[in-house]
Amino acid sequence: MTAPVVEVHLEPGELHAALVDDARQGLLAPEGRKQLPPVWFYDDYGSALFDAITELPEYYPTRAERALLQAHAGDIAAQAKPATMVELGAGTCDKSRIVLDALRAAGCGARYVPLDVSEATLRQAADALSADYPGLAVHAVVGDFHRHLDCVPTGGRTMVAFLGGTIGNLRPEERRRFLFDLDCRLEPGDSLLLGTDLVKDPDRLVAAYDDSSGVTAAFNRNVIRVLNRELGARFDPDGFAHVARWDAEHRWIEMRLRAQGTQRSAVDALGVEVVFEDGEELLTEISAKFTRDQVEAELWESGFVVDAMWDQPGGDFLLTLASPYC
Ligand code: AVJ
Repeated sequence: MTAPVVEVHLEPGELHAALVDDARQGLLAPEGRKQLPPVWFYDDYGSALFDAITELPEYYPTRAERALLQAHAGDIAAQAKPATMVELGAGTCDKSRIVLDALRAAGCGARYVPLDVSEATLRQAADALSADYPGLAVHAVVGDFHRHLDCVPTGGRTMVAFLGGTIGNLRPEERRRFLFDLDCRLEPGDSLLLGTDLVKDPDRLVAAYDDSSGVTAAFNRNVIRVLNRELGARFDPDGFAHVARWDAEHRWIEMRLRAQGTQRSAVDALGVEVVFEDGEELLTEISAKFTRDQVEAELWESGFVVDAMWDQPGGDFLLTLASPYC
């Protein structure tokens, strides 16, 4: 077995500085506009909670995407024929195995480059993959896909996988920017494998983000623990209620934390006190849901042409293979 390479582009100090910036902007915003980007959910505990979410009966996206990958990994390998598979927000790299198996069977995919902000999760995943895929060169990158696309090693035909519906955690203008930046990095013959969750019955959508066992609520509140630990705050996580709401106009789920009674704490790293009035909400995540036409249109606007789309009869989730039309 070849030992995996793990390249760290996010030093702890850098990560901390980014959190301080986001907290300063997001927590000191005027009432009604407080927000934090979802990346701060994913410390080790948050990553474990997310794993638990993917097993929940209500949370269909992971299972739906896995079924699509299982059914179509052979087609993906045959069409994309990548020498390198890059995976953005790879997490435990679990679903990549389905694609890696198909690539191996097709005789391509000699290198796998997972990128994730969670160093511990990534190191474990890289070790496990190297052990299970002896011929595979694993080159993991600890980084943030907004800022560290440039650090991803290229060379050879590359397929960038962005799965799990994570692109839905970006706002429309961020998606456009992100896809455009990615398009600029790709060369003819390269491709993008994109997983997007689809618009469906709002009751099912809300249930997926407000499960009956409260795992998603714990995941949401974990961001308060991260603030307490990393920024020297002393908020009570249980002083916030978990809220998941379908915004039909924007076609996204919003996750919020709503203050139950006034919640206040000094935030040492910001040198100020932050106050949530009773009922005030902190927006912690949007998760946009798409239609097929919308995915095709957004890709096109950012320089991609769709090569293939796969979804199941029920239409819960969509996989798209696209390439730059440069
Ligand atoms: C899988 C990261 C895209 O938006 O569904 C799960 C994370 N948030 N439950 C999603 C998430 C709440 C998530 N991503």
